Amino acid sequence: MLKGKHIVLGVTGSIAAYKIANLASMLVKEKADVTVIMTRNATNFINPITFETLTGNKCLVDTFDRNFKYSVEHVSLAKQADVFLIAPASANVIAKAANGIADDMLTTTFLAAKCPKIVSPAMNTNMYENPIVQDNLEKLRHYGMEVIAPASGYLACGDTGAGKMPEPEILLEYIKKAVYPKDLLGKKVLVTAGATQEKMDPVRYITNHSTGKMGYALAKVCALRGAEVTLVSAQTALQTPLFVKMVPVISALDMFEAVKECYEKQDIVIKAAAVADYRPKFISDEKIKKKDGGLSLELERTDDILAYLGEHKTENQFICGFSMETSNMIANSRSKLERKKINMIVANNLKQEGAGFGGNTNIVTLITKDWQIELPKMSKFDTASAIVDEILKQM
Ligand SMILES: Cc1cc2nc3c(=O)[nH]c(=O)nc-3n(C[C@H](O)[C@H](O)[C@H](O)COP(=O)(O)O)c2cc1C
Repeated sequence: MLKGKHIVLGVTGSIAAYKIANLASMLVKEKADVTVIMTRNATNFINPITFETLTGNKCLVDTFDRNFKYSVEHVSLAKQADVFLIAPASANVIAKAANGIADDMLTTTFLAAKCPKIVSPAMNTNMYENPIVQDNLEKLRHYGMEVIAPASGYLACGDTGAGKMPEPEILLEYIKKAVYPKDLLGKKVLVTAGATQEKMDPVRYITNHSTGKMGYALAKVCALRGAEVTLVSAQTALQTPLFVKMVPVISALDMFEAVKECYEKQDIVIKAAAVADYRPKFISDEKIKKKDGGLSLELERTDDILAYLGEHKTENQFICGFSMETSNMIANSRSKLERKKINMIVANNLKQEGAGFGGNTNIVTLITKDWQIELPKMSKFDTASAIVDEILKQM
């Protein structure tokens, strides 16, 4: 995703500057070409040699340093950049950037750059909450820059509150989002994921093996590609992906209600959740009745979310479902596609190694009314990208 991309990192005089060494290293591992520009004050917190060693590129501090590759280095760098991230961004550099001040290498190059620009403020809570700083951040947003909300927590100055720079892993996600093609911009996507739980008694429940990995990968891919994503998620052990609106649910009924509430506004709906077909019939907290030494559990069908979506499909909406089969995968999936009146089914054979629940890979066949294609074994993220490519071709 970042291979060959030129990422410029601006580092300012904040205690959080040391964390950018980790980010630079992560970017290099992803094969990005990284240049770090530091303010003079930032060099009090971390030595430029650290960045030069990690990135293999000269770390720039002084605008009038003549030991550069190009004659007007700040302009050449600004032109090459695919993304420019200032992190940590001091209150001082934020103020300069918001007002077009270019009095050092970092602020001059930032002003000259036309690529996507991201700013990650890091400072003491009182500084961050100061209306002057807030106005400056608003101005940066107004000019199209992405401002990453700082995390709250214990700050290096001993105070607790908002102003903490997010961890490098999160900054990396913002960089990825900035370089990703935006072919889903303006589209609304609803993804359901995870394993629903149907309560049997106060202790036990019926569930399934879904880990939510496929659905979360789909939500992430769609968000990176610019869609406004709502993720209705039943139980998983996964972290909520960035850039998505998360709606947590527990049972099939909760999921059905959450979907009913928002499906009409969506351009694409992908039902990747594994929903139990049946739930225990009783609804009180009483214990399951014992009968003839065994458990007596009366079951009733849960709502068929996919059928509902197919039935109530709005004009130009694209509905994609999943089908997990252990035999006759194509025939059963095609019949499901027709029965549920949806646009595409992603089918996989649970008996195939590397496919289905749990693992990080999948092997799927995409089936529509007129054709089918089998995708090779890929990571769930790449499978999700291929599914989204195909949906876009069909729409
Ligand atoms: C130990 C220490 C930590 C600092 N941390 C921050 C910080 O997190 N955010 C900030 O805006 N300023 C912080 N400052 C103040 C800035 O370094 C100071 O405003 C400086 O002028 C910023 O320069 P620059 O924006 O050119 O990098 C800190 C200062 C010291 C001494």
